[in-house]
Amino acid sequence: MNKELNYFMNKTKGIVIAFLAVGLGLAACNTGAKRRNPGKTYAPDMTYSQAYDAYTHNPNFADGETSRLPVEGTVAMGHELPDHLVEGDTNAYKTFTTHLRFNEAEMAEGERLYNIYCGICHGGKLDGQGPLYVSGKFAAMPANFKDGKYINMPSGTMYAAIKFGKNAMGSYASQLDIKQRWMVIAYIKKFQAENGGAPFTLGAAANEVATTDAEVAAEVTHTDTH
Ligand code: HEC
Repeated sequence: MNKELNYFMNKTKGIVIAFLAVGLGLAACNTGAKRRNPGKTYAPDMTYSQAYDAYTHNPNFADGETSRLPVEGTVAMGHELPDHLVEGDTNAYKTFTTHLRFNEAEMAEGERLYNIYCGICHGGKLDGQGPLYVSGKFAAMPANFKDGKYINMPSGTMYAAIKFGKNAMGSYASQLDIKQRWMVIAYIKKFQAENGGAPFTLGAAANEVATTDAEVAAEVTHTDTH
């Protein structure tokens, strides 16, 4: 073996031994106890929020809450005006309506929401024969939307059922916002119109973006009188 190679191998051996020694040393330090120290944090201002997290204490407000309610009298962008419908006022339900008109995409969204929230009971065919009811695990017969009792039910009454629930049916107010409720109703109403119910009126003409401001204003005065 020539001298140089010999020297090189000795050196490598040295390095390997050094690594092993360090490794053993580190392993020896691990006593098996739980480590409570999270170690060093890279970019702590990203790891630990500088802003107040939701639901934490906030000294900047008199009530100490970080999560704020919307300013009174305001409506968040993209949200509908409050509906002012009062639970149990069944006469108001019957005449309650909406200025919203839905295009094809919104109708499809209504169907999607129906299948998520309502189909389990009311059925994919809207006949009240949803899988939960058919299974026998849910005793109350859900409304059959093809049935004479429901086929021409005012859409405001349907809206009230979604908002407040009806007997064995719970409220879906927290799952569906106002527009979503109407999209689901539009889906049901369209189906009913195609199955012998009154003509469908919640559809938008092709490419119609939204209702006019005048219609919205009329709706505001209308709903405010409830
Ligand atoms: C857990 C089962 C269940 C789910 C889910 C459910 N419903 Fe119902 N629904 C019922 C039952 C049961 C009734 C019959 C209530 C009665 O008249 O006693 C009913 C009745 C109704 C009625 C008639 C209300 C009236 O005034 O007679 C409407 C409209 C309705 N549901 C719409 C919906 C919509 C829309 C959804 C989805 C957002 C939905 N339901 C989800 C069980 C359900």
